[in-house]
Amino acid sequence: MTPPAFPSLQVDGLSKTFTLHTQNGARLPVLQGMRFSVSPGECLALSGPSGIGKSTVLRLLYGNYGAETGRMILRQDEREIDLAAASPREILRLRKHTIGYVSQFLRVIPRVPTLEIVADTLRNAGFAGDPLPPSKAMLTRLRIPERLWNLAPSTFSGGEQQRVNLARVFVHPFPVLLLDEPTASLDAANRQTVIELIQSAWARGAAVVGIFHDLEVRDAVATRLLDMDQFRAAA
Ligand SMILES: Nc1ncnc2c1ncn2[C@@H]1O[C@H](COP(=O)(O)OP(=O)(O)OP(=O)(O)O)[C@@H](O)[C@H]1O
Ligand SMILES: [Mg+2]
Repeated sequence: MTPPAFPSLQVDGLSKTFTLHTQNGARLPVLQGMRFSVSPGECLALSGPSGIGKSTVLRLLYGNYGAETGRMILRQDEREIDLAAASPREILRLRKHTIGYVSQFLRVIPRVPTLEIVADTLRNAGFAGDPLPPSKAMLTRLRIPERLWNLAPSTFSGGEQQRVNLARVFVHPFPVLLLDEPTASLDAANRQTVIELIQSAWARGAAVVGIFHDLEVRDAVATRLLDMDQFRAAA
């Protein structure tokens, strides 16, 4: 059997307990024994009430948090990488080429103009050619007015910042996408654009894991739902 060109994700036995060092080392168990898999061409929506650990799962997959137990296997071509055990260097490499993460809010990079933030994704991914035309096209598609392209997004509105965040991820065809409430601050027209971007991502074979509070968006983009209640850690 030929291996898939696009990656799949397989998570098994994933647990996470936070230790609050500033609060007498209090321990806060969040996830226990979580398991799921995502195939190329799928969009898995994590569902469950506020505080259950949805964002935590995406941050674990992106390497922002360390896992307490468990494996997160990224399978691509003939390679298998356990994200739970990957070195920081490997995580950085994956973030450049393989895994795109849209957090709910853009962590603004000081003084870097919007257009450069988007173009940097392509430069980091080794894009052959001038990264500016595709970057401009993605900003236009997400309705960021041209007068803002040379400004750093620190003073932008919440929705503008979210769209810059989306542009810098969707400008590159990341094989894996992690999307945390990508439409939370958007108007109807931009929400529709983001729905189309997500649909075309999984249609081209990306493996997508997302959190979508907006049920209309979730129904439009998710190919499968995962109820997280079953992985709630006992307090
Ligand atoms: N860095 C952290 N340190 C300590 N506790 C944390 C940390 N990150 C998350 N938590 C805790 O883990 C739990 C899950 O948080 P998480 O943000 O994953 O929830 P969520 O399901 O995404 O909620 P929401 O729908 O409100 O975004 C919460 O109780 C939160 O307080
Ligand atoms: Mg969250």
